Amino acid sequence: MSINKMLLKKDLKEKRELVNIEVDRFLPRKDEYPKQIHKAMRHTLFAGGKRLRPYLLVNTYLLFRNDVKKTFLVAGAVEMLHSYTLIHDDLPEIDNDDYRRGKKACHVVYGPDIALLAGDALLVNAFEAITTTDLDDKLKITLIEELAKEAGDKGLIAGQMVDILSEGKKVNKATLEYIHKNKTARLINLPIRFGCYLAEAPEEDIKRLEKFGNKLGLAFQIIDDILDIEGDQEILGKTIGKDKKAHKATFPSVYGLEESRRMAEKLIEEAKALLKPYKERANILLLLCDFVLTRTF
Ligand code: IPE
Ligand code: IPE
Ligand code: MG
Ligand code: MG
Ligand code: MG
Repeated sequence: MSINKMLLKKDLKEKRELVNIEVDRFLPRKDEYPKQIHKAMRHTLFAGGKRLRPYLLVNTYLLFRNDVKKTFLVAGAVEMLHSYTLIHDDLPEIDNDDYRRGKKACHVVYGPDIALLAGDALLVNAFEAITTTDLDDKLKITLIEELAKEAGDKGLIAGQMVDILSEGKKVNKATLEYIHKNKTARLINLPIRFGCYLAEAPEEDIKRLEKFGNKLGLAFQIIDDILDIEGDQEILGKTIGKDKKAHKATFPSVYGLEESRRMAEKLIEEAKALLKPYKERANILLLLCDFVLTRTF
């Protein structure tokens, strides 16, 4: 492993722990009544997971300021919301996936009824978590408003909706991009914006980093599609081959594997170029860009 990869792994592990501690403290204990719901929520939330979204939030904040502690619970809120999307995405009625984060999917262990509620609970807890922070009220409202917009029926849910509607259909390039930008890129872009807001970054930086987030987010889902074909199930921690089986609209199905990879590479290159003004403060984000492209999980 290269020194850079080791550095990223160590840093990610440290920040992941700090975010996990805040989330663990915020949520009810797993034996709290009614314990089935809290166990089911924690099953997927703490099953592992890269914690990419919280990591993006914390590291974007670090472009501007150093006192990161106040970012951890907000970062955890984004991760709770992301974990809800995974639980619902895996349900038999949606992607019907049995395996998630290297463990049995929530509905396999607890049943679809409890999994549905666990997803709902993680979603609403994300909002509640933000209200419990010491942040300024105006900032809290901004975070809550944007979280609702990005995750809602004009954002992530719209992407999931068109993803389902496109199963078995020949989609055009615009529809494919619509799906990927909404179902995935929005929730990658959002923590980057949150990092900016928390750090009170200038408008010009917010605009630049938003462009960065959109490119990174789209590349992330293109690679997710590629890993569904080329990945190793054990390493990936989720079932492979499922997109083809469900006739999903994916980048490889529309552009082919080679062109899809080339597109992801170009997006990552453009994303990295947007980090130039931050010089060495962006070192970790630059490594993360390479990780998104070369990841195996
Ligand atoms: C999986 O996201 C769902 C997509 C948007 C592709 P991640 O690949 O970030 O999943 P975890 O959080 O590491 O499990
Ligand atoms: C998932 O896309 C996007 C969301 C969960 C919002 P996928 O359906 O491709 O994600 P995986 O491959 O199951 O993680
Ligand atoms: Mg899906
Ligand atoms: Mg899925
Ligand atoms: Mg996928």
